[in-house]
Amino acid sequence: MPHRSIRDPDRLHALLDAVLVVGSGLDLEGVLRRIVATACDLTDARYGALGVLDESGTTLERFVHVGIDDESVARIGRPPEGAGLLGRLVVDPKPLRLTDSSAHQDSVGFPPGHPRMQSFLGVPLVVRGGEACGNLYLTEKLDGKPFTDIDEALVQTLASAASIAVEKARLHARVRELTLAADRERIARDLHDTVIQRLFGVGLLLQGVLPMTEVTEVRDRISEAVADIDDAIRQIRTTIFALATPAASATGLRARILEVCAQASRSLGFDPDVRFAGPVDRLVSSEVGSELLATLREALANVVHHARATEVHVTVSVGVEVHLEVHDNGIGPQSEHPHSAGGRGLPNMAQRAQALRGSFTLAAHPHGGTVLSWRVPLASPAEITS
Ligand SMILES: Nc1ncnc2c1ncn2[C@@H]1O[C@H](COP(=O)(O)OP(=O)(O)O)[C@@H](O)[C@H]1O
Ligand SMILES: [Mg+2]
Repeated sequence: MPHRSIRDPDRLHALLDAVLVVGSGLDLEGVLRRIVATACDLTDARYGALGVLDESGTTLERFVHVGIDDESVARIGRPPEGAGLLGRLVVDPKPLRLTDSSAHQDSVGFPPGHPRMQSFLGVPLVVRGGEACGNLYLTEKLDGKPFTDIDEALVQTLASAASIAVEKARLHARVRELTLAADRERIARDLHDTVIQRLFGVGLLLQGVLPMTEVTEVRDRISEAVADIDDAIRQIRTTIFALATPAASATGLRARILEVCAQASRSLGFDPDVRFAGPVDRLVSSEVGSELLATLREALANVVHHARATEVHVTVSVGVEVHLEVHDNGIGPQSEHPHSAGGRGLPNMAQRAQALRGSFTLAAHPHGGTVLSWRVPLASPAEITS
């Protein structure tokens, strides 16, 4: 096999493809297989394997390997049990590079029938909190050469992608088991925190590969990949919000908005006119949803107490942002500075918007009455890392 460098665009492309496969619909086994194969290919390793520990961290739950034929696998009989070198990667989760694996103090030797493996590069799969959940390792670099710094950087990126895939699969499995809304919301938040933050981490790792090359085409591809990761994050976020607010539930945001308006109609003496635009139930997180409802309640209370209106129009639209507008046909704000004129109502609404990086205004409408506008962005990837 010819020697290839990081400057080789095909090589980098293979790395990016393997990382992005995490965001695809492929099952965990398929994703891990793809990652191991790519690791072997990129580092010119003859053998590669990836072991995943179960959630207790004691038993090997999954073992995927490349390079050993079926017959030899049958002869060896069992996957490694996590003793020796592989155990070391779990206890002390950092990369390990050796020219001769059998000479290391932690080596327990190979079982009968196992091929000889000299050069070794092992990288832990690390989950949230810095704990190892397995390892990805390569052995026998072709031509008897030792593994290099660049090999290590590439394999670390792939190991990050693999650990994200493992976490994503575990969280999804837990979601399937749960039916309680509260649990669904908690898990949706978990998914949000782990998967998205960590995909971001991979994006950063990829950017770390940038200084290793001056080739414009390679640099362009890295930038494209970072943009793809952004996209994957957007998709995942959509799934998460769908999880947090089950669409068919009677307690969906739309239903609760209508409920609040129905309650207010008794005090108002008329029914508010309510309009929705965009995927209100699907895209608005429960956190934003409950802040929006609190704002709507206070806004309608103000119409009751201050406006002397005969009509109120409530509009909730969801696009790149969540926008609540409450427009009445009453007397309009009587003060230049209504925010400081009254009680805690308006300051609270402003604060709720601010906490979610949104904005809030209350003003006279050009055609009469008062218009209240409360806007909050659907969080963007850049905000999640900051
Ligand atoms: N829909 C509205 N129409 C007219 N004036 C309003 C309206 N909403 C709020 N205001 C004015 O803004 C002031 C501040 O409102 P708020 O902070 O909720 O305090 P409070 O309702 O306790 O007076 C109100 O006292 C009122 O003068
Ligand atoms: Mg008020």
